[in-house]
Amino acid sequence: MTRGSTGPGTGFTRRINRNNGETVRLLVTGGAGFIGSNFIHYVLSHHSDWQVANLDKLTYAGNLTNLDDVQSDPRYRFAKGDINDRKLVSNLLSQGFDTIVNFAAESHVDRSIMDASPFIETNIVGTQVLLEGARQSGIKLFLQVSTDEVYGSTDSNAFTEETCLAPNSPYAASKAAADLLCRAYWRTYGLPVIITRCSNNYGPYQFPEKLIPLVVTNALEMKQIPIYGDGLNVRDWIYVEDHCRAIDIVIQKGKPGEIYNVGVGSERTNLELVYKLLDILGRPKSMVTFVADRPGHDRRYAIDATRISRELGWQPAFSYESAIGDTVNWYIKHEAWWRRVKSGEYLDYYKRMYSGK
Ligand code: NAD
Ligand code: DAU
Repeated sequence: MTRGSTGPGTGFTRRINRNNGETVRLLVTGGAGFIGSNFIHYVLSHHSDWQVANLDKLTYAGNLTNLDDVQSDPRYRFAKGDINDRKLVSNLLSQGFDTIVNFAAESHVDRSIMDASPFIETNIVGTQVLLEGARQSGIKLFLQVSTDEVYGSTDSNAFTEETCLAPNSPYAASKAAADLLCRAYWRTYGLPVIITRCSNNYGPYQFPEKLIPLVVTNALEMKQIPIYGDGLNVRDWIYVEDHCRAIDIVIQKGKPGEIYNVGVGSERTNLELVYKLLDILGRPKSMVTFVADRPGHDRRYAIDATRISRELGWQPAFSYESAIGDTVNWYIKHEAWWRRVKSGEYLDYYKRMYSGK
């Protein structure tokens, strides 16, 4: 995002440099979800002087047990609430946060195809409420956690930060709209906004509607593994801690107004990935069932992460080979976690999503 030459906030064009011992007061939204909870763990174990407040509505995807081990940490606190609640957001932000990391979102493509409305409410309107609150309270950095899905699908070059936005699902369109609002708040008001666009994450605490935990837990339960279409769609799989470290580096060294792609070039077809998971678990390939394709299904995501690596020095630390095995083991060891998550609302969703496919 290039900042306009006129308008307020020109002074924000300098890089943020937090290496001066300054305490960071973070407001994390959506911190009870998959990446948000991993990020809170990451921050508390890597920055002894940072403080973290977590604002989360606790939708079906939010799970406070993900944060059981940090509940009593004096550097951490939780507030239950909706990012669409202007009064709540404004009250919270009057408490002196300097950085907002916005993870809060409706995040599942298939749900957005069933009903786009909550995606518009949270991902677009909610982001605008946060941006406005940030503007009123004079925040130092607003970090919008976006996704490679805003670029659409590619059959040739990897996405750079200059690739045109061409979202194909209601989820991706809602995230693209939020990115454009972030850009507008930077250009118009000089609000120091940074956007990160990451590829597909995997790791602990991922809600089992997403491919990897769905496959692992179904395989453990000896249930069929539904694969959409021909199974040859390609995703770039990144271990969640590598994503968390990228966000941490962006908070410390990122340039306001900038966009940073995050990806590791670990492209796999869905079939390749699923067969690998079944192999680790010692389950037969015959558990795979090909089902009707996802409408508008993006064929391939591919990320060029040159900017974050060259300008901020970020590099992935985890290899696919070891991290995918560790992830499978995490789900094996945390059976009570996923059994609880897979009961209730999930059962109803699973029936609606997969019956008749
Ligand atoms: P998730 O669905 O696991 O978690 C979302 C969290 O947001 C939940 O805790 C939920 O309760 C909370 N939330 C939802 N609506 C809210 C609202 N109105 N107010 C407050 N809290 C609300 O999602 P995730 O996979 O952890 O993704 C987090 C963010 O990262 C999202 O913005 C997503 O678009 C982005 N992202 C995800 C991936 C991925 O592979 N999962 C990749 C790139 C970017
Ligand atoms: O690329 C980043 C995005 O990755 C994030 O922005 C999204 O929040 C996150 O959900 C994820 O989106 P995908 O649609 O790529 O992830 P999902 O796990 O839903 O699907 C991965 C691939 O697997 C995709 O090609 C669809 C396919 N799939 C998925 C499910 C749930 C199946 O074949 N069968 C399934 O049952």
